[in-house]
Parts: sequence; structure tokens; C-alpha cells
Amino acid sequence: MISDDSELHTAIRSELTKVVRRQKSCRTGEERAILDATLLQSHCPLLLSSFHETLRLVGAATSVRSVVEPATLASAATNTSFALQSPAVIQLPSGITHTNPAIWGSDANVFNPARFLPSTKAALDKDTKRKQAQGYFPFGGGKHLCPGRHFATTEILSFVGAIILGFDVSGSRVPERAFQKLGTAVRKPKGDVDISMKRRRGWENVKWSFSVEGRGGEEEVKNLVVGGEELGDE
Ligand code: HEM
Repeated sequence: MISDDSELHTAIRSELTKVVRRQKSCRTGEERAILDATLLQSHCPLLLSSFHETLRLVGAATSVRSVVEPATLASAATNTSFALQSPAVIQLPSGITHTNPAIWGSDANVFNPARFLPSTKAALDKDTKRKQAQGYFPFGGGKHLCPGRHFATTEILSFVGAIILGFDVSGSRVPERAFQKLGTAVRKPKGDVDISMKRRRGWENVKWSFSVEGRGGEEEVKNLVVGGEELGDE
């Protein structure tokens, strides 16, 4: 989805330069790119927003809850209430609310990379803000909220960041989504997605490392020890 849009791709590449630094070993000539995973969320707002927008459109997990005793759920905002009987099973399919035009607007099914930017959200009216906050739950919620969400977010942003910085991807387009069967957690694309990928010029021989040091993108750093090997610029 990102490589489909050259303007977005360029903007995200530019964000990513703030969280990656390049090094070359004087001794072996080995080139390294070190991406600091701790800075991705604070320094790459468009990448983060695109990640959430992707989860909104393709994440469709259903949270399942068992009613263990009769209860009433009431919403003052919508003036509705639900009487829950026991025993019963409740299913909360995020795929429905993730693409509901009443929550996201007429472009609910369109990939909008800016949708989750703080500035976009700040411009929403109070009611829409509330509906979007409640209607977006790719990691579930409550007691069983996914405990792996931070790990998954960091891992995905790091991986995608390295692909965007180190490779040129072409031929991709946002794929149509296949019909969502009951139980689908991640919507598959309709048909194959053919892409062509090659190392980006100037990044051909780079080996990737991922750090959690909180250090940004100084282009080159002298005498840093990475993986037991001393590195420095030429
Ligand atoms: C993008 C990646 C991921 C997504 C979209 C995702 C989504 C979810 C969802 C929707 C639930 C159900 C929450 C609910 O019932 O309300 C869940 C539960 C869970 N997830 Fe994830 N998850 C992801 C990655 C991970 C990773 C990387 C781990 C582990 C390292 C993990 C571990 C778990 C566990 C253990 C539960 C069960 C929690 C419980 O029942 O209390 N998940 N996840």
C-alpha cells in the first residue's frame, strides 16, 4: 500500500532517515544500517498512521466473550442498552466496525495513510472521535487485550522500515480484499499480488541491525561496537 503511492513512499523514507544510521567498518569494509526501533513511533508519524490504517482495513479479528451472569450494557452517548442473558456467547467482529461508513465516513473502504495522524484526529468532531476510538480494535480489548501488541507493532514497523529504506519496490497496487469469511482474522487479498523488489542504489551491500538505544539517524558514527565488532567511518 505504501509503495503504491510515490508521494507517501518518499515522505515515509524521509521520516525513516531520522531513525537509521549508516556505518562502515574501516577494517572489513562491511556496511551496516542500524535502525533504532524505539524511535519509530515518535519520529515516523506517517509510517505509524499507515500501519494503523492497514490494520483497520485488513485486521478483522473477532473477540469472543462468554456472558457468565446476566448484565445490562448501556450507552449514554447513543441512548441504547443491551440486556445480556447467561449463558450466552458474544462475538465482536472488528471487521464490521473497521469499515463502517457511519464511523469512518464515505471513504471507509479506502486506504488513507493520514487517517491516524494526530492532526487528522484532532480535526474530528467529538462524536466522530469517540466512534472511531470505540470502533477500532485490531488488538481486541479489555481483559484479553492482545499482550503482544507492542512487540508486534515494533517488529512490523522495523521490518517495513528496513524494506522502505533499503529496497525499491515496484508494480504493487492496493489489492482488493477477498470476501471475509466468519472467523477471518486477517483479510487476504483477492488473487496474487505481484511485485518486483530490488536493493536500493547505495544500499546494495548493507547489513541490517535493529537497536533499542534511543539513538537517531546520525549518518555515521565512529568506533561503535556492534555485535562484538568495532565499526567506524572511513
Ligand atoms: C499485528 C499482530 C497482532 C494482532 C493484530 C493481534 C490481535 C489479537 C487479538 C484481536 C486478540 C484477541 C483479543 C480479544 O479477545 O479481545 C489477541 C490476543 C492475544 N494475542 Fe495477539 N495479535 C498480534 C500479535 C501478537 C503477538 C506478536 C503475540 C505474542 C508475542 C500475541 C499474543 C496474544 C495472546 C497471548 C493473546 C490472548 C490474550 C488473552 O486471551 O488474554 N499477539 N491478539
